[in-house]
Amino acid sequence: MSALDHYVESFAGETGYLNWAAFGPVSPAARAAMTDAAGSLGSFDPRRHAAVGAQAGRAIAGIAGLLGADRAEVVLRPSSTDALQHALFGLRGAVIAGATEFPSISLTLQRASDASEGAVAPRWIEPRDGRVTPDAVADALDDDVTALAVSHVDYRTGYRADLPALRELIGPERLLIVDAVQSFGVVEEDWAAADVIAGHGYKWLRAGRGTGFGRFSTRAIERIRPVLSGITGTDADGPFTGEAPPPASAARAFTTSVPDQLAVARLAAAVDELRGVGVADIAGRVAEQVGEILAIAERRGVRSVTPADPARRAGIVALVPDDPDALGRRLADAGVAVTVRGGAVRVAAHAGTSAETLRMLEDALPASGNPAYARS
Ligand SMILES: Cc1ncc(COP(=O)(O)O)c(C=O)c1O
Repeated sequence: MSALDHYVESFAGETGYLNWAAFGPVSPAARAAMTDAAGSLGSFDPRRHAAVGAQAGRAIAGIAGLLGADRAEVVLRPSSTDALQHALFGLRGAVIAGATEFPSISLTLQRASDASEGAVAPRWIEPRDGRVTPDAVADALDDDVTALAVSHVDYRTGYRADLPALRELIGPERLLIVDAVQSFGVVEEDWAAADVIAGHGYKWLRAGRGTGFGRFSTRAIERIRPVLSGITGTDADGPFTGEAPPPASAARAFTTSVPDQLAVARLAAAVDELRGVGVADIAGRVAEQVGEILAIAERRGVRSVTPADPARRAGIVALVPDDPDALGRRLADAGVAVTVRGGAVRVAAHAGTSAETLRMLEDALPASGNPAYARS
């Protein structure tokens, strides 16, 4: 049995679950790792405590490996929003962002602006369909712009931003800050295009809450003032006396304290599992599932606003029927878990989504007489 087959098997019981973009039920590997870690932390053996503490290094190394980054560039945080706070609060100048981004970008950027009394100034863009394309960014670009903050995959439409093209557009001097929550682990990407990458493990990695992380490139470390740097954010080894040490010169400057060890145990196990299978194989499966969901929608006459091009999407399909709430109720009645929000029904499949789950979706979608299916 291949590593991918084993991985798919670990999704046993997922029947009807198409809500991976909201929450990924915690995997057997992550659950077992947390139970082990809890046992060690419940012992009175300092060596076992230390072994649990060392899992942070394992998680960091694994994430760095997946991002093609240096370990010193990766930090563990409670959430992706927390990692974005560390980035956005330390900026200066105009920052381009989509007005309809998930609040982890939009609200955090606004708060950073308020706290800096305007030294950080959001430059909101409102592109057609909410897609942060190079053309949409180009229209807002001028010499005042110091950074672009963007979701790699849009939580509403499933649109996957073209990171290399955005990098090429903004040039090497401006910072590219990326929310990778809806893509990390399920798409292959050239992460080197981004300066800051924020993600978490509680959806596609199946590692539960408390598993955020951030990657800060050398350029980001040089440019972003570590406003919230705390007791783990210095080069000092333990408590200091006298003058407070400056923030560290590595990404750890963007940390405040030691992460939750049980969350780290889950994350380390999830990352190990992911690396064992390989992102390419998982991404291939996810792409197939999404292709099938789009085909089901087409057969049923339900419109989708998710891009047809596999390179511009990940695991999310946004259906826009005439009556999203009615479709949501129908799916719930059929035992299909999705998210209904903002006039769309968000369907999200993972590598382990079964044919039975897709059949349930198809059976529950009415042959609706909706307007002709149109993908762009
Ligand atoms: C695109 C995106 N970013 C950020 C978040 C929130 O992440 P966290 O809870 O780690 O702050 C979500 C949650 O749904 C999301 O979809």
